[in-house]
Amino acid sequence: MTTFHFPKGFLWGTATAAHQVEGNNTNNQWWKWEQEGHTNGKSGLACDWWGGRWREDFDRAAEGGQNAHRLSVEWSRIQPAPDRWDEDALERYRVMLRGLKERGLTPMVTLHHFTEPLWVSENSGWETEAIVPLFEKFVRKTVDALKEYCSLWCTINEPNVYALSGYANGAFPPGVNEIKRAVQVEANMLRAHAAAYRAIHQIQPEARVGYALHYRPMVAKRNWNPLDRLMRSVRYSGINMAFPSGISTGVLKSPVGNVSIPEAKGTQDYLGINYYSQDTISFNPFKPKELFTHSGFPADADFSENNFIANIPEGFFDTLKWAVRTYPNLPILVTENGVEDSTDHLRPRFMAEHIHQMWRGVNFNWPIKGYFHWSLVDNFEWERGWTQRFGLWALDTESQKRTKRPSADLYAAICHENGLSSEMAQKYCPEVFEKLFPS
Ligand code: BGC
Repeated sequence: MTTFHFPKGFLWGTATAAHQVEGNNTNNQWWKWEQEGHTNGKSGLACDWWGGRWREDFDRAAEGGQNAHRLSVEWSRIQPAPDRWDEDALERYRVMLRGLKERGLTPMVTLHHFTEPLWVSENSGWETEAIVPLFEKFVRKTVDALKEYCSLWCTINEPNVYALSGYANGAFPPGVNEIKRAVQVEANMLRAHAAAYRAIHQIQPEARVGYALHYRPMVAKRNWNPLDRLMRSVRYSGINMAFPSGISTGVLKSPVGNVSIPEAKGTQDYLGINYYSQDTISFNPFKPKELFTHSGFPADADFSENNFIANIPEGFFDTLKWAVRTYPNLPILVTENGVEDSTDHLRPRFMAEHIHQMWRGVNFNWPIKGYFHWSLVDNFEWERGWTQRFGLWALDTESQKRTKRPSADLYAAICHENGLSSEMAQKYCPEVFEKLFPS
């Protein structure tokens, strides 16, 4: 019997995003995309946080022993038109953040999580540099209004996923398939991130500012095959390295050309990492739009319900190792990690195995400071709509009723203990007990 403990003060929380939980976010590009029929269901009322149900969900988080929460603010609510600020919306966010503090949860606020106002997306969005001062203005206004309650900021969530899904594979709005435009978008996101980084520090010198990187470790399908290995490295650099290279060197690197953004160098106080799974890459001559690469999972993987995620906890360890080698001494926050699983068959072992790998990292003295599970309650999963359920709590969208899944109890036990014990593994995921706690 033993416990894998974490350092004192470790942040344990869940992560959410405005459009996925608030409901009725009618003034952004995703709402429009949904009405046009591109998604598997519509966000609708979502988890009704804008209607006030954040209160009961924050209670659930607090009762579950969490001491932090990552949420995002909705730009289209705060600045519904270029020349209009909605002070009531800002006040509502202030009330929400106060609600977190009152419950003992440290707030982390993301300023852009995939959505922007229609007046932005209908005016070239992130495709031109004109977005940089617009984003900076929004950030200044918002940070100034919320600074009393928050000093941990995430400028942009997963710029790589936003750019590649919107402009390379077309699953996100505006549904474009042109890698060069994706790179342009990501470059403008990096410029905007750098401007936001400086603006936030000007307003709040003690702020800690970063962004959340979706990192995918990758392996070549047939390691003996030079084409698979080559494609692995093309895809790896295209997906993973644009922002990190920009922040390390001031040059955003991509397989279709580099972009010099010197002002981005050094603009992070921590590295935010979102880890879900690891990809297996092979050469595919029929996929020119994906630069002749194919991405999959091993056939015998431990798959999630819709085969969207393969449970590969070792990839999480490799991700953290990459982070610490790339930015020695920079604090690391796991800003997302979780799995779609409506029946909660996989989630308990997924959670325990990933937290175990993170604990291994902590034991190498890697500066991992917190973990935000995705997510607290089932919420609107973008183009996949309601077909994927990531919540510790299940949501019935009709009645808004929440039902606790067993992994909510496992996570609560971990948060309360500040560690993962052998008893917890025995109780919630006996199938991996021997793997985690070899006798
Ligand atoms: C995004 C979340 C999303 C999650 C699960 C991440 O890429 O940041 O918004 O819900 O993945 O699909």
